Parts: sequence; structure tokens; C-alpha cells
Amino acid sequence: MVLDGRLCYGGDYNPEQWPAEVWEQDVELMRRARVTLVTVGVFAWSRLEPAPGRYTFDWLDRVLDLLHAGGIRVALATPTASPPPWFSLAHPDALPVTADGVRLHHGSRDTYCAAAPAYRAAARRITGLLAERYADHPALALWHVHNEYGTTCHCHHAETGFRRWLRDRYRDLDTLNDAWTTSFWSQHHSDWAQVSTPRATQYLPNPSQVLDFRRYWSDQLLAAYVEQRDLLRAATPTVPVTTNYVLGDWVPVDHARWAAEVDLVAIDHYPSDAGPAVEEQIALGADLARGWARHGARHRVRAGDGDLPGTHGSWLLMETAPNPTYTRTPTVPGRMVRHSLAYVARGSRGAMFFQWRASRGGAELFHSALVPHAGPDSRIFREAVELGGLLDRLAEVDAGVVEAPVALAWDAASGWALQQRALPSDRIHHHTEVAVAHRALRRAGYACDPVLPGDPLAGYALLVLPALYLADDDTAAWVRDHVHGGGHVVVGYLSGVADEHARIRLGGYPGAYRDVLGVRVEEFHPLADGEEVPLTGGGTGRFWAETVRLAGAEPVDAYAAGVLAGQPAVTRHRYGDGVAWYVSTRADEDTYRRLLDEAARAAGASPTCPDAPPGVEAVRRRSPEASWLFLLNHTGAAQRVPTAGIDLITGAVVEDAVTLPAGGVAVVRERAGA
Ligand code: GLA
Repeated sequence: MVLDGRLCYGGDYNPEQWPAEVWEQDVELMRRARVTLVTVGVFAWSRLEPAPGRYTFDWLDRVLDLLHAGGIRVALATPTASPPPWFSLAHPDALPVTADGVRLHHGSRDTYCAAAPAYRAAARRITGLLAERYADHPALALWHVHNEYGTTCHCHHAETGFRRWLRDRYRDLDTLNDAWTTSFWSQHHSDWAQVSTPRATQYLPNPSQVLDFRRYWSDQLLAAYVEQRDLLRAATPTVPVTTNYVLGDWVPVDHARWAAEVDLVAIDHYPSDAGPAVEEQIALGADLARGWARHGARHRVRAGDGDLPGTHGSWLLMETAPNPTYTRTPTVPGRMVRHSLAYVARGSRGAMFFQWRASRGGAELFHSALVPHAGPDSRIFREAVELGGLLDRLAEVDAGVVEAPVALAWDAASGWALQQRALPSDRIHHHTEVAVAHRALRRAGYACDPVLPGDPLAGYALLVLPALYLADDDTAAWVRDHVHGGGHVVVGYLSGVADEHARIRLGGYPGAYRDVLGVRVEEFHPLADGEEVPLTGGGTGRFWAETVRLAGAEPVDAYAAGVLAGQPAVTRHRYGDGVAWYVSTRADEDTYRRLLDEAARAAGASPTCPDAPPGVEAVRRRSPEASWLFLLNHTGAAQRVPTAGIDLITGAVVEDAVTLPAGGVAVVRERAGA
């Protein structure tokens, strides 16, 4: 357990920005808001080691003692995401170099190269000292390593590391040349010294090189994390260790594979009002975190894992904004509570925020906080108090695992490979396609677990592959065996097109799944911006279309106009004991939702709460003893949902239905048998 039976509630706390009198007020306010956990010290390196080898831990001692006296536990951070100015001046070779060859200077945060030996040594030193000093501190509940790993570099340390990583992966240059197709554009290497990081270059870079560079950085950053984690574990074998993931297409971190190395998956999540609805972004971010946690738990090798906090797919929302002002989106009173519970519904062990108290200066001075610039006499702080009270009442849900009948394939490398510039369309991204499928499933009422190629699929009625571009032979066999054995799968366009080196699988797309799907795609037809293709089923396709030849599959929907008129757009194929669907275009939302609903029902899945009205999100968590139905009313009107049990939010007995106020939430411990 992270907190002995309580949900995590609190946020980043930066006492180093405030005089000591404020610390006492902070603890008092935290108690008022029923805060249970705060993250301390994330960017405090220069206050802990103001000059090389001169340490000033006394203020941190005092802060931890005060928090402990107030009954508040601490996620103690290692401060390595922001080395002090003295470090950068002493070790200019540890400053990062961009793809353009520009060396960055101190002045922000994350200004280091994680492959530079001097940086790694300094990070180990300060981490070791923290571990030693606070190992026995009673406030310590969790170690928080670094902050949002994700920076890359092209300096000579990075380049040397890249070559070493490539030698481990490919062993010899011939194999590397082959994997990267260096016969194209005269890129053949005759010596390892010629192999470089993908620096700024004249025209299109080599996509396999770019893909491997991201994989290398994921591994390099993971090694930096593991080094710190091992020091912390050695000092405190029973205290869980985590690092907060940052999400985004730019991040060269394979979060799912990292999950085997953290004791608790923790994400920072900042949905914005730009793009898809905020609630959809929350649901997707939360589900991804849960999927990574499940994947990690299966691959973890540490003894005694059953006791670790993330073992059953639970995870932690480590940071979100109490108020979206920072992203320049409108403030909506009351939304913080509902949104926080939306994360808990999907498996978060609580809700943590960036940050506790708003800074009065510095780069993020207008970032929102639970204690805003206005102080505690404020709407935000009153909502923070309300949220603390609610989370206190919901602690029992922590025992429940989220129920999901659908598996949604996700793979970091496919995402990276689909970012290459030489694709026929720059509109198709793995992450976007995952989001589109997730939205359609959510609207149809199905919960889903993101899975990685190779993960066990027992218990899932349906598997969905949204633009899972790369497929090695094992991935192809994973899908084939699943369907042959009776599984149902929906494969989307641009899945299984390339191998693990981003080279095309020849003979017709999608090379990895042609036999299972009973189709052969002869040609791509990317659509122009704004262009739509009507489908015979009444819907439309956008962005992408294909010439699909049937090779055993039956057509389900077809293109109704244009060069593809009369040709299949969606197909279905019986393969072994299972069923494989193929979708060759971005169908409009209703069409895709109906299609996934039909495929899920045919596979034996049912929605979480078939009677929930539109706009009410329903998620169920279940333990061997009980089940909890979260009902989140995202609409502006009251909504009635049939269910029975006890609503933990109001304490009321629910006989046959609960009425949710506009924007309200119910968490019903369901009557046995639900
Ligand atoms: C990230 C960081 C925080 C802060 C917030 C701002 O999540 O971890 O330090 O910069 O973003 O949204």
C-alpha cells in the first residue's frame, strides 16, 4: 500500500520557495483539506547543495518533521531534473546539444545530457545522500525519482552511447546496414565511427535511424532512472519507487516497458480544452496509465511483487492542474472534483496536483495551485477541501480493479515510426488512432485496457489494433494465434505494414495480418484535407482510403464514390475459430462507434452500464468482495441512472436508481449480484 488504506491526495509542494512561517500555514491548510501525500524537493537541488559538496539539508529536515507532525506523508523527490548553475559551469560537456548542434545553457530546467558521465555521477551522489539521510524518516511513503524523463541530446556522450546501444542490438555493421536500409541514398557504413545520431540534415532523414534513436533514449533514460532507484531501494527496501511520466508524442520514453521497473506507474496529465473533449482526454490518459501498469506488473521480476502498489493495474495521477489557466482555457467551477474522480474511477490511487501553493515568481508563476495567489479564501481552495473530504470517503474503492472487456493495442515504437516524414499522409498517428478508437468505445459504453503486443489476451472479448504500424514476427503470431483460437479482432489501416525496423512487409498490405484478415491491400489512397468518401452503409471516410482486395473476407461496408466506388472499405473474415475485421478508412464517429459496438457484441462483450444516458460516463471497479460503479455526469442537466446499492458520495441508499446533479458524481457500492 502507498498510504495504509487512504487514497493519495495532495500535490507538488515547494517549501524551498517560501519562508519558514509559510510552512506552518501550509501544514495547517493541508490538514484542513485532508491532504494525505505531498511531493517534496522535485527542483530543490540548488537549495540542497548550493555549492559543490556543500550540503544544506537542515531546512528539508524541518519540513519533513512538520509534515509528519501534521500526519501528512511525503513522496520525496530526487532533484536531478534541474542541476544547479555551478554544476553546468563546472561540466559544460554535460549540457545538452540539439539536433542542430546548438549547445544549450543553464537558465531553465532539464538542461543536462543524461548520457554525460558527470551528470550521472552528480545525480547518483545527491540521490545517495537523500536516501541515506531520510531512509528512516517516518513521513517517507514513496520515492519520486527525477521529474518527467524525456530529454534527448546529440552531444558526443550521447553519440558514443548510441553506438554502444546499436552494437548491443545489431552486433555487427552488416546487420545494422540491413536493418536501416543504408543501401538507400548511399548511407552504407563501413566503420562504427561513421554511425551518428540523427542530426539536422539536408532532407528526409533515415526513418529506421530516427526510430532507433528514440529507442536508445528510452533505454538511456531508463538506465538513469534505474541507477537512482537502486540506490533508493538499497537504503529502503520496502518503500516503493516511482517516477512521474510525461505524456506526449515528443517523449522518447516507452512508458509501458518502463513500467516493469517502477513500483507504481505515475503520470502527469494536463488535458486542455483544445482538441477532444477534456473528459475523453482524461479517460484515455487514465486508461493508458492502467494498461502500462498491468503490462509492467506482468514483467516485473522483483521478489515479493504481489505487495507492491501497482501490481493490479493501479497507478497514480501524480500531477494535474487544479485550474486550467496555465493552458489558457476557461475556468469551470466544480470541474476539478468530477475530473479527479474520473481518474480514480479508472484505477488511480488518488489525485495529486501541480501544485500545492502557487509560486510568486519564476517561470510558472501563473500556474494554478490548490492554494492560489488569492490564498485559502478562494473557490479553488474550497473545492480542494471538498475533494479531500470525498476522497476520504472513497478509500475502499482502492481494492477494486477496473473491469474492461476490450483490449486496445498500444505501442510506443509504432507511434514513433508513424511520425516519420516520408509517409503518404501526415494525418495518421498511432496515438491519434488509439484516441479515436478509445473515444468510439467509450461512447459505446465499453471500458478498455491498453495492451502491448505479446500481452496475454485471456478475458478480453475483443482486441482492437489502431494503426499499430510496426509488427515483428512475434506480433504477427500474437494476433494470428489469438484469432485462430477464437478471439475477435478489429484491425485498423496502417497496422502491420512495416517490420520492427520500419521496413515494409512486402506482397500487399498489411503484410503482418493479410492471412488473418483475408484481404490484400494493393494501394493506399490518402485523402486530401477536407475530402470525404461516402460509404455505402451511410457513413463517410476521411483522411485515408485503400484498394482492398478480398482474399477470403466478406465486405461489410464499401466505398460509394470516387475511384474506389464499389470496393470494400470494411471487411470481416472468419479465421480459425475467431473473427477478424478490417477497417481501411477513418470512418466518421457514429459509423466507427456502431462498428466497434457490433464487433464487441458479436464477441460477447457488453457495455458497463447499458442504461446510462448519453453524457454519463460509467466505470466499474471490482474486488473479490465488492463492486463500485462510478457514474460521472458530464452534462449540464440532472441525469437518472438505474442501479442499486449505497452511494459513497452522499451516503444514501440507492434503491433502484440514482439521480446525478448536473456535473455530479455518484460512486455506488453495488448491491451483491450486480
Ligand atoms: C509538469 C512538471 C511540473 C510543472 C507542470 C506544469 O507536469 O512536472 O513541474 O512544470 O508540468 O504544467
